[in-house]
Amino acid sequence: MRLAVNIDHIATVREARGGIEPDPVHAAVIAELAGAEGIVCHLREDRRHVNDRDVRVLREVVSTKLDLEMAATGEIIAFALDVLPDLVTIVPEKREELTTEGGLDVAANVRFYTDLVSAMHDKRIDVSYFIDPDLHQVEAAARCGANIIELHTGTYANSRSRAEAEAELTRLRLAAEAASEAGLIVTAGHGLDRRNIAPICRIPQIEEVSIGHALISRAMFVGMKGAVEEMLDTIATATRM
Ligand code: PXP
Repeated sequence: MRLAVNIDHIATVREARGGIEPDPVHAAVIAELAGAEGIVCHLREDRRHVNDRDVRVLREVVSTKLDLEMAATGEIIAFALDVLPDLVTIVPEKREELTTEGGLDVAANVRFYTDLVSAMHDKRIDVSYFIDPDLHQVEAAARCGANIIELHTGTYANSRSRAEAEAELTRLRLAAEAASEAGLIVTAGHGLDRRNIAPICRIPQIEEVSIGHALISRAMFVGMKGAVEEMLDTIATATRM
């Protein structure tokens, strides 16, 4: 299983003072050197952390895979088509939210999301839809022609009991199986950390996890390199079990 590192929160710390440090580009380079196989950043409409310059410099510097997480709004779509990340992950976005709160409702707007896939594919940009582990949404993402789905693991990560976690893991397994059968690449993310990631690693269809907050939090104490290496070790151990 591959690890993609979301570096938004390095930019969050920078924005706390409005200066130039710490630079998310430095974090991306260290994460790649430590073994990450992708770098993720979310260019939000309000630019609360990552900004346009970050994405443009990351596009030049990232040598693994640059995944631009974004809402499907006109301005951000135009930006993506100009900067040409390897991949866009389409998420719902609300200004008042602290972080992405749930999956995208692809099924509600298949026509729009199909056109979006065509526009991105014309520029050789892969498209991932970030969805809840819901078979209806998996089927809609496949119908739109997306290459990839990222399953939202936030409900699993925030579950308060073993029973709740098991129920959500079952939904994740079923969605991963259905997506894989439909020819989609399956990834997962949101709220994952070293304590809760093992069961996710054991879902064979999930090829990649996208992790931000837990990794950047840990990096404050052990450094970016240490935090990425620890996570890779945890993933490798869980995958072997
Ligand atoms: N995947 C998506 C689509 C996200 O929106 C986020 C949060 O930016 C993540 C993964 C990473 O979540 P976390 O920061 O909780 O690890």
